Amino acid sequence: MTAIPKDKALDSTLSFLREGYHFLPQRRKRHHSDIFQMRLMGEKAVCLSGEEGAALFYNQEHFQREGALPRRILTTLMGQDGVQTLDDAAHQHRKALFMKLMTPDSLHQYSTLVAETWRAYLRRWEQLEQVVLFPEVEEVLCRAACAWAGVPFEEKDIKPLTRDLSAMIDAFGGVGPRHAKGKLARHRAERWVGKMIDQVRAGKQYAVEGKALHAISWHRELDGKLLSTHVASVELLNLIRPIVAIGRFVVFEALALHEHPRCVELLRTGPAQYAEWFAQEIRRFYPFTPLLGARVRADFEWHGYRFRKGTLTLLDVHGINHDERQWEHPHLFRPERFREWNGSPFNFIPQGGGDYAHNHRCAGEWLTIEALKTTAVLLATSMTYEVPEQDLSIDLTRMPTLPASGFIIRNVRATATPV
Ligand code: HEM
Repeated sequence: MTAIPKDKALDSTLSFLREGYHFLPQRRKRHHSDIFQMRLMGEKAVCLSGEEGAALFYNQEHFQREGALPRRILTTLMGQDGVQTLDDAAHQHRKALFMKLMTPDSLHQYSTLVAETWRAYLRRWEQLEQVVLFPEVEEVLCRAACAWAGVPFEEKDIKPLTRDLSAMIDAFGGVGPRHAKGKLARHRAERWVGKMIDQVRAGKQYAVEGKALHAISWHRELDGKLLSTHVASVELLNLIRPIVAIGRFVVFEALALHEHPRCVELLRTGPAQYAEWFAQEIRRFYPFTPLLGARVRADFEWHGYRFRKGTLTLLDVHGINHDERQWEHPHLFRPERFREWNGSPFNFIPQGGGDYAHNHRCAGEWLTIEALKTTAVLLATSMTYEVPEQDLSIDLTRMPTLPASGFIIRNVRATATPV
């Protein structure tokens, strides 16, 4: 049996919070190993990196999700008893509910809604002296998400709902007030969608068949029962919340276009696949999910290392997307690299890896890519703007992160015909 390299620290929780996205990649380098262990939140945690590490992490014979997510994430970002916490047949059945909503037609509908909403906001941005892109884009995505999901809203609902969904996302790496804000936001949002689901079920609220509100309200579990109002509200928020999270990637798109003007040209006149390469490189290059967690189902051995039942096991998501063995010059922004990408489900995992139906890989990954292609083209062709002096630094010790200023633009003008 080979001993798993061990971190010396008594407990690394504070280092994780201090080091953020650097935490696992630095330790992989320090140990010269894709497997190492440490103590985190008072328990032993084995960490896996590299493509092979990801393939192991997604092997469901060895790992399960039950009991893997800390309470602080369940009470803010994800909600309790949602699809992320399920295993095996119960997971597959619930996951199918999400994947059925991701037809090519439905993805196209979302992109069209984003483009229409963006153009409406653009008319307002033209009137403003300056625009902080981050909150504006979150609102565009949220409004389009509600329309796409068939969630009715009044005009007055949109700003507070966007703020609440954003606070849940912002809470995932936060302690103290950031965590408390996320928890309160979840409480409010669950109550809002929960009421709506009850009304649909009571026949007091019309829901469009085929859209998320209808599908979730009437979804039956394997035992034939409807989801409880609470779980249904968690799952409805599992669609509209992460759509708002795409806003962070859109701000990174604006930053990439600012720092690499050749990408603007290529989005306007380059090969047809360029928008897709650009969206992929945004998801690879810029930080979002730092790591994922699972628990060992039963004792097993891998390459001579022993895994014991119940052990918390973490996957180095950010590190794998920047692994120099897979990505040449991983710290350079180069969309063209995706011309050559081999499509492995384990070497590029910004939204998880493995298989959509059986693993926990993100149900909204295709929607995210389509939305990012649309927003990249909108930024490059539907408007002109100036980027004034501002703090565009990205703090990699904060999770989740963004350019410090939120990306300010000025002198925004819609182009008469897209460039
Ligand atoms: C799961 C990231 C957008 C719905 C996940 C996972 C990650 C992730 C890392 C977990 C994978 C795993 O546990 O193995 C992201 C990021 C997004 C995004 C970074 C964009 C910024 C979306 C969108 C939707 C969505 C737009 C829906 C419209 C889900 C759902 C799951 C999930 C339902 C749970 C899947 C399961 O447990 O089987 N996402 N996601 N996500 N995502 Fe996303």
